Amino acid sequence: MELTIHAHGAAIPARGFGTWRLTGEACVAAVAAALDCGYRHIDTARVYDNEREVGAALAASGLARDAVFVTTKVWFEDLAAGALERSAEGSLKRLGLSAVDLLLVHWPNPAIALKETIGALCRTRESGLARHIGVSNFPVPLLEEAVAHARAPLVCNQCEYHPWLDQSAVIAACARHGMAFTAYSPLGKGDLVQAAPIRAIAERIGRTPAQVVLRWHLQQGVVAIPRSGTRAHIAENFRIDDFALSDADMAAIFALRRPDGRLVDPGWAPRWDRS
Ligand SMILES: NC(=O)c1ccc[n+]([C@@H]2O[C@H](COP(=O)([O-])OP(=O)(O)OC[C@H]3O[C@@H](n4cnc5c(N)ncnc54)[C@H](OP(=O)(O)O)[C@@H]3O)[C@@H](O)[C@H]2O)c1
Repeated sequence: MELTIHAHGAAIPARGFGTWRLTGEACVAAVAAALDCGYRHIDTARVYDNEREVGAALAASGLARDAVFVTTKVWFEDLAAGALERSAEGSLKRLGLSAVDLLLVHWPNPAIALKETIGALCRTRESGLARHIGVSNFPVPLLEEAVAHARAPLVCNQCEYHPWLDQSAVIAACARHGMAFTAYSPLGKGDLVQAAPIRAIAERIGRTPAQVVLRWHLQQGVVAIPRSGTRAHIAENFRIDDFALSDADMAAIFALRRPDGRLVDPGWAPRWDRS
C-alpha cells in the first residue's frame, strides 16, 4: 500500500483533496484545514472558480512550494492551440504559482482535434507552466489516442471511481502506460457513506464509512481526491493509513459495482468504456 503514487517522474500523494463546489471563504478555510491535517495534494480546475482561494490558502499555509502537489485543469472549450496555453497561464496567475504540478485536459472535446490539444498540452510542459501533464474523463480508446500523440509522458487520467462503478478497463490501460489513475467522486458524491454494506464493514472494524471507502481506493494503488467542507470529515478522510481492509472486505466492496453506478455523465461526456 503506497501513500505516494509514482508515474513518469511525478510523485503524487495518494490522499488528495478535491475542491469542486467549494468557493469563496469556505474554500479558503477548507483547503487551509486540509493542509493543516496533512494533505499535500490539492485538486482544482479553471471551471471551479476557486483557483484564487486555493492559491490564498496555499500561500497562507507557509508550506514550501515543493511540499504540495497542485493540480488544475483546462476546460473542454479551451482545448485549441493557444487557448489551452492561455487557460494555463490564467490558472497560474489566479493560483499565484509559477507552475502547477499537474495540468489536465478536463474533458475530451470531439470538436477540436485531439492531436492539436495534446500538442498544446505538451507545450505547457516544455515552457514550464506545468511540471507534469495528463487527462481527465478519457475512456480507453481516447486515452490510447492521446498517448500516441504525446511528445512527453501523460502521467495521469482522472476519472469517476467508487465502489458502485467498474473502471477496471481504464485502470488497466493507465497501468499499461505507466500512468497514475486518480479517482474523482470517490465517495459517490457522499452517498456511499449511507450504503448498508459499507456501514456494516465500518461498524465491524471501528472505522467510518468514508474511511472504509477511501481505504478501498488506497489498497488498489489509485489516487483519490475526496472533497469536504466539513473540518471533521476532512480530518477523518485523511486518517486511512493506520488500518487495512481484509481481502474479504475488499471483495465485498468490489461486489457493490452496478450497471447504473455512474454518477457524473453530463451532455458533453464521451462514449464511456463498457464494463
Ligand atoms: N475531473 C472531473 O471531471 C471531476 C468531476 C467531479 C469531481 N472532480 C474532483 O473530485 C473531487 C471529489 O468529487 P466530488 O466532490 O464529486 O464527490 P465526493 O468527494 O465523492 O463527495 C463529496 C461529498 O461527500 C461528503 N463527505 C466528504 N467526506 C465525508 C465524510 N467523511 N462523511 C460523510 N460525508 C462526507 C461531502 O460533504 P461535506 O462537505 O459535508 O463533508 C460532500 O457532500 C471534486 O471536489 C473535484 O476536485 C473532478
